[in-house]
Amino acid sequence: MNTEDALRPDAIAARGPDLSEELAHLVRPDLVHRRLYTDPSLFDIEMDRIFGGTWAYLGHESEIEKPGSFVRKRLGRRQVLLVRTEAGEVRGLLNRCTHRGTMLMAEDRGCQKRFTCPYHGWSFDLDGRIRNLPVADSYDRLFERPFDLGQLRVESFRGFVFATMAAEPLPLLAWLGPARRWLDEHIDRHPGGRLRVLPTAVIQEYRANWKMSWDNAADGIHATFAHRSYNLLGKEAETETVLARNPATTPMISMTLGHGHCVVDQRPGIPAGPWSTMRPLPTRADLEDALAARGEATAVNLDLATGNMVNLSLFPNLLFVGNQLMVVEPLGVDHTRVSMFLVVADGAPEEINLLRLRVDEDFVSFGTPDDLEMFERVQEGLKVVEEEWVDISRGDHAGDVVGEDGLVTGGISSEAPIRAYLEEWKRLMSKPIPTTVRRSRIEAAKFAGARPARAAGGVA
Ligand code: FES
Ligand SMILES: [Fe+2]
Repeated sequence: MNTEDALRPDAIAARGPDLSEELAHLVRPDLVHRRLYTDPSLFDIEMDRIFGGTWAYLGHESEIEKPGSFVRKRLGRRQVLLVRTEAGEVRGLLNRCTHRGTMLMAEDRGCQKRFTCPYHGWSFDLDGRIRNLPVADSYDRLFERPFDLGQLRVESFRGFVFATMAAEPLPLLAWLGPARRWLDEHIDRHPGGRLRVLPTAVIQEYRANWKMSWDNAADGIHATFAHRSYNLLGKEAETETVLARNPATTPMISMTLGHGHCVVDQRPGIPAGPWSTMRPLPTRADLEDALAARGEATAVNLDLATGNMVNLSLFPNLLFVGNQLMVVEPLGVDHTRVSMFLVVADGAPEEINLLRLRVDEDFVSFGTPDDLEMFERVQEGLKVVEEEWVDISRGDHAGDVVGEDGLVTGGISSEAPIRAYLEEWKRLMSKPIPTTVRRSRIEAAKFAGARPARAAGGVA
């Protein structure tokens, strides 16, 4: 629970042009224009309307367990601190001093009682309220402006914290929609529903547009080709996962889940369970032996060591890849960072979590680089201005089933998830979205006593 309701919005603004007509031309049912990936002016608008105008993943509560702990995040171009307050609440503070805008914290994470601006020493409580303002008396127009840090609206779903700047966002559960069931399932496979996100991510960057990650997230065909060298290293080529030789003939399914979300369920292709797909890994035999010696080398435990073979993707920035959370962070129109957060199950045997780390290292080391190379090669190809269009029609006429709710279920060779997220992209990008900063605004009275005395020093 958080105290969002105690915060009040600043002025509400909706910025930028109406792009409805232009985007109706650029995003078509089966084609999309190269400008979506190459145009800096569209990128600028994405940083406002996609990142900020709707919900996006910010972090996990397990990253900030103790009061005073914080992690530095970004929402589009906004620097954000995800903070645990003294009262145990989760807050999303803008990492921006209210004096002249200095980024308060440069550290990625830490634990402390206050955030103090390095420039002129203003400091703020964990809940964003101004705490100390040196030489308060010399700021002549101090009382006319807000001092407390701006806040995002943050809400937690079972530990997963989402944030938005939208003035009137959808309720979080409505935004999750049918994706909620898949997120519940992911959480519930951890004993007691307890999962812990390790704070130090494996970070990779690629020189291509961030939406490449979305085009790729539910692309069930690319693995056979782009990850060929990875497949040849192990026995996956013989299995019916997305790494299978002919994924189009497998019983795996992909589904669109609304608001750009989607899921690929590989489990129908692996009746023997996820662990059956595992390749040799460092220390695997020793860890399995140790589990077996205690009678704990069960299918449930071992499957927990692998990914659950369900790739859930929550638009615009969170992809579940095996047991890892992949957070997609756009840095520029052709520059993207992906952070892979390892997740452990606190209620599982230690060997299972050690196996998880070995499993996680595997694909990130030998598979993810394939994807990033493809993204950069696509970006390079899209520089040809005479070739305007990118095809996204696969699966449209070959077995996709459209439900009454408009959601699409198909084989994993379908590009329906790409079409679906781009529809959501177009919806969000077409018109200005009213956004706002929230803050507590009870601060000015604190300084009223200091002003007549013109006393040096701050107010604590
Ligand atoms: S910019 Fe932060 S105290 Fe001046
Ligand atoms: Fe891939």
